[in-house]
Amino acid sequence: MLFIRLLVILLAGVNAALALRSFARGRSKGGNLGSPVLSKDYVPVEDQWFEQFLDHFNPTDARTWKQRYFTNSGFYKKGGPVFLMIGGEGTANPKWMAEGEWIEYAKQYGALCFQLEHRFYGKSHPTADLSVKNLMYLSSEQALADLAYFIEGMNLRHQIPAGTKWITFGGSYPGSLAAWSRAKYPHLVHGAMSASGPLLAQIDFQQYYVVVEDALRTHSQACIDAVVTANKQVHIMLRHPLGQKGLAEKFKFCDPIDPGHTKNNDIANMYESLASNFAEVVQYNKDNRKSSKTANITIDTICNILVDENRGTPVSRLAQVSNLLLKANDEKCFDYKYNKMISELRNVSWADEAAEGGRQWTYQTCTEFGFFQTSTARPQLFSETFPVDFFVQQCTDIFGPRYNIHLLQSAVERTNTIYGAFDLDVSNVVFVHGSIDPWHALGKIKSTNPRAPAIYINGTAHCANMYPQSDNDPPQLTEARKRIGQLIGQWLKD
Ligand SMILES: *[C@@H]1O[C@H](CO)[C@@H](O)[C@H](O)[C@H]1NC(C)=O
Ligand SMILES: *[C@@H]1O[C@H](CO)[C@@H](O)[C@H](O)[C@H]1NC(C)=O
Ligand SMILES: *[C@@H]1O[C@H](CO)[C@@H](O)[C@H](O)[C@H]1NC(C)=O
Repeated sequence: MLFIRLLVILLAGVNAALALRSFARGRSKGGNLGSPVLSKDYVPVEDQWFEQFLDHFNPTDARTWKQRYFTNSGFYKKGGPVFLMIGGEGTANPKWMAEGEWIEYAKQYGALCFQLEHRFYGKSHPTADLSVKNLMYLSSEQALADLAYFIEGMNLRHQIPAGTKWITFGGSYPGSLAAWSRAKYPHLVHGAMSASGPLLAQIDFQQYYVVVEDALRTHSQACIDAVVTANKQVHIMLRHPLGQKGLAEKFKFCDPIDPGHTKNNDIANMYESLASNFAEVVQYNKDNRKSSKTANITIDTICNILVDENRGTPVSRLAQVSNLLLKANDEKCFDYKYNKMISELRNVSWADEAAEGGRQWTYQTCTEFGFFQTSTARPQLFSETFPVDFFVQQCTDIFGPRYNIHLLQSAVERTNTIYGAFDLDVSNVVFVHGSIDPWHALGKIKSTNPRAPAIYINGTAHCANMYPQSDNDPPQLTEARKRIGQLIGQWLKD
């Protein structure tokens, strides 16, 4: 009896672990900024805690909680600046306290370094659980106010001399926060390095997959053609019981296809998962992320499989790409069941797998940003199978009926109104993007404001400039890092 119960628990654990993909909605498990490659002499830094208000916008609410941060004072020189790395949509990674390009700048300018974990992610738990009534305290505005209070708090705790300049750093969503921190709190934040940060909130982010397609084209048109042909074969196979069986085998589906329902959310989820494979590879192509799992799977790896006619039919090659990623991500089978994913994301427990950030980030997309990466713009490549309704439905299914298209429309409009989208008017900010990173489509890649320049790096991926240097870096990436360092130097002289 006990054995059977244990078995049930174990199996339930396995199933739960499968329901959430390692990469979904343009976000990697753990957050979008990967881990830097570490040098051998890394000494782990310890967790520190800072008391924050739960609600910065209600002075009658005195509730507080403890926010995690890290410190590295090893490079600090008297009179030096303070660098603050902003945590984002995943657990804050202490390895960034020892490695990464910002550490090189810290050495150069004698900076005191902090990293502040974002509320509701990692170990920074402002509330007892992740229920919808608690998630109302999860927003970019609260996170920015956390930064402001943190800066004040550290100035006091470390007796940082008045007039010391704080520079914020962030990649991906924290890249947006970095720019916004300078805009909202210019008396506290003197400058910001904003990498791969989207500035425009948008419900239907169809440009995302346009960039993915463009990135695949840097390998060859044949690579795209192979995906198109493979997808056509998938459509045809879906229509017949034998084809459905074949797909389930080839792609290692966890569950067989329900023959009566080949146009439902499961199928949309399947197509979206297949497309996500490409997104994941493109978004991180050849960056210097230390990820033992997928770091060596590049656009070349998958396109070489897709165009190789010796590897079977196009649909078989597509399955080989999918299986390669499944294996690299330690997933035993391809889980496309919509309800399984939703029930996982509905779990409000901090102990649940979705609490690594999947639920929280979905909440932020449903109430602030949209950013839904739909297939709308490229019906050929990824087929018109995961339109915006599919994602809006998820908001409703996960958080409740109020979280519908109307809420999303006003939420996104609100975000663009309070931050200004592309009209954000700032100084001492550098916007950095890579041309093959799909997120650049919502970021500032050109600027006419000399006080807030944009650096658009040809051929690099998400947050590439933030990782430690490597021998394989293209010269334009090296150049970008150098220029950012010079800009920071200029700001510090102001
Ligand atoms: C990537 O590296 C892993 C582990 O080192 C290896 O098993 C795998 O075959 C590599 N994959 C590719 C596509 O090179
Ligand atoms: C939520 O997740 C926790 C931890 O994995 C689990 O113990 C609990 O049963 C889940 N709750 C529901 C309602 O599924
Ligand atoms: C970007 O790099 C590619 C490949 O190296 C090259 O063909 C292209 O002309 C470059 N684009 C720009 C705008 O420099």
